[in-house]
Amino acid sequence: MPTETVLETQAETLALFKRGKVRDVYDLGDHLLIVATDRISAFDVILPTGIPSKGAVLTQLSTFWFDFIKDLTPTHFVSANWDAIAASHPELAPYAEQFAGRSMLVEKTEVIPIECVVRGYLAGSGWKEYQKTQAVCGVSLPAGLRESDRLPEPIFTPATKEETGHDLNITEEEMAQRISPALTRQLKQLSLAIYTKASAYAESRGIILADTKFEFGQRHGQVVLIDELLTPDSSRFWPKEQYEPGKPQVSFDKQYVRDYLEESGWNKTPPAPALPNVVVLRTSAKYLQALQQLTGQGMPPS
Ligand SMILES: Nc1ncnc2c1ncn2[C@@H]1O[C@H](COP(=O)(O)OP(=O)(O)OP(=O)(O)O)[C@@H](O)[C@H]1O
Ligand SMILES: [Mg+2]
Repeated sequence: MPTETVLETQAETLALFKRGKVRDVYDLGDHLLIVATDRISAFDVILPTGIPSKGAVLTQLSTFWFDFIKDLTPTHFVSANWDAIAASHPELAPYAEQFAGRSMLVEKTEVIPIECVVRGYLAGSGWKEYQKTQAVCGVSLPAGLRESDRLPEPIFTPATKEETGHDLNITEEEMAQRISPALTRQLKQLSLAIYTKASAYAESRGIILADTKFEFGQRHGQVVLIDELLTPDSSRFWPKEQYEPGKPQVSFDKQYVRDYLEESGWNKTPPAPALPNVVVLRTSAKYLQALQQLTGQGMPPS
């Protein structure tokens, strides 16, 4: 297992498109290169310690899912194979060491500014809203549901993409006012179809996809699925064998990190403390386990 981590990439001759909490995205003109670093965030704060293999696992998971759902929608995915990427984009050659194995080449699109969230279980902001209103984003739910309960059927609960701070939950009607009723219907239908297919598969492999977030873009007038796909960074992954409704669930990937931070007495405002090595190694193993469990693959030799 590699123990080196990449916390931030540096590529002076490339145009940086965006540096997110976890990913560094480079603008290649018609394409983007989405580089998943080994950064990890907890309680919305980026930690100073990287997780070996995390970036590679995230990229491989997205790659797996883009292929898995390709019959349902066009996607932005082009390649995650470094040799193929470098062959089509020679300007990337100097950065092979930083980028290979953790990067995905995608088609650049016009982003539709909505987070298309699907929930199959009641957690996070959905659970908070339900307790106040018995509804989430305007979707009424039965009375008496407990935290982490499975919903009668998956629901579409959109949110706005906010540049700073938390995304805001909105109703389907508000989404329709922002981007049109026809596009709203299309994104809702696609989101539910992708979630339904993927979550049934994940559950058969012992992982509950409690909820997830999709993003879509437009290219040549066509709607395209973009961004990362069904990773633990864009979704809640719960280990099925430990599932117990009526309380918060352990996170498949971040359980050791959260436990450590809770016990450390850290006040959850930056800067976060460094993680001890045992937490780092256990967490790295969890990401590799998620990849293995979902795809049957280990890490390709780098
Ligand atoms: N094919 C694409 N075309 C255009 N933009 C894309 C495409 N795929 C992803 N993006 C955009 O690239 C950006 C990736 O940023 P990233 O997700 O790393 O950071 P973020 O969303 O700002 O913050 P966070 O780390 O909290 O997710 C997002 O704004 C996403 O909408
Ligand atoms: Mg993002």
